[in-house]
Amino acid sequence: MPYKIIKKLQLGNSGTLFEMDIYAPLIAKKAFAGNFILIRINETGERIPLTIADYNREVGIITIVVQIVGKSTLLLSHQNEGDELLDVVGPLGNRIHIKKYEHPIIIIGGGVGIAPCYPQAKELKEVGNKIISILGARTKDLIFWREKMAGISDKIIISTNDGSEGIKGFVTEPLKDIISKEKISLVIAIGPMIMMKNVVSITDGTENLPRVETFVSLNTIMIDGTGMCGGCRFPAKDGQIHFACVEGPDVNGHIVDFDILLNREKRFAEFEEKSYDLYKEECKNLKPR
Ligand SMILES: Cc1cc2nc3c(=O)[nH]c(=O)nc-3n(C[C@H](O)[C@H](O)[C@H](O)COP(=O)(O)OP(=O)(O)OC[C@H]3O[C@@H](n4cnc5c(N)ncnc54)[C@H](O)[C@@H]3O)c2cc1C
Ligand code: FES
Repeated sequence: MPYKIIKKLQLGNSGTLFEMDIYAPLIAKKAFAGNFILIRINETGERIPLTIADYNREVGIITIVVQIVGKSTLLLSHQNEGDELLDVVGPLGNRIHIKKYEHPIIIIGGGVGIAPCYPQAKELKEVGNKIISILGARTKDLIFWREKMAGISDKIIISTNDGSEGIKGFVTEPLKDIISKEKISLVIAIGPMIMMKNVVSITDGTENLPRVETFVSLNTIMIDGTGMCGGCRFPAKDGQIHFACVEGPDVNGHIVDFDILLNREKRFAEFEEKSYDLYKEECKNLKPR
């Protein structure tokens, strides 16, 4: 079945972020917050996991938001409206637990992690939760979906490392401020691994702040997405091994051993860099379409 790109939009001014609508009616029909897809662009392409950031069941469309970080995401950015992707598998992973919580929920999106926050905030808001969204990035050009997130949030806070928009600093500063002043039922953090590690270290009750249940979305390396290859294995603090694709990708952040995981994620860095450089070299010889 062809997976046609229906719409493509650049996000912000960084040149590294884009949004794509893909015609995939069977996936759209079953998609929920927390689910992801595996995409293979062409016959020689690798499979890359991407979150279903939005879905429209009526028109059969799923939306993805992608940050260019290496060869496959750069190759995907070269696909245009009307092009077809070879394979799109999904929805994979688990739907997040949706219920009405007693106190507000804080949803933290860092960089491209803002996109997976959207369906989670939307579905949690629909059942009556109060949502406080914190959107953070290095600089304002990497913040997107401000209006979309504002539309499903009771309060929205923006933070940038360089102070170009909102509070200057990391997302952990407004997080500390809120949980020290009011009762919060749940924190959801999605973004770079280091951001999720730092959020968890604030909500785990060891910093003279109340302990708050915290979910993180693990963007570990994934290949099959169905529990068979072991690529997405992550260690828990008690030594147990878990699989992010079938147990998550959203998991209890307080059990994750982020130090081991951060090291594990670097294991293919040399090959990833080589393949990125080779592809960029190849692109120089391509004629623009
Ligand atoms: C469940 C899940 C959902 C994700 N959702 C999104 C999303 O919505 N938008 C988005 O831009 N990115 C998302 N990612 C990350 C995305 O899959 C990687 O950025 C992409 O695979 C990198 O491929 P590349 O060839 O461009 O870069 P590479 O050169 O392969 O790698 C560059 C960096 O990406 C990491 N990476 C490489 N392969 C994977 C992989 N298969 N899974 C995770 N990380 C990888 C590497 O550790 C490295 O740091 C998600 C990852 C997971 C596991
Ligand atoms: S991606 Fe293969 S086991 Fe999880």
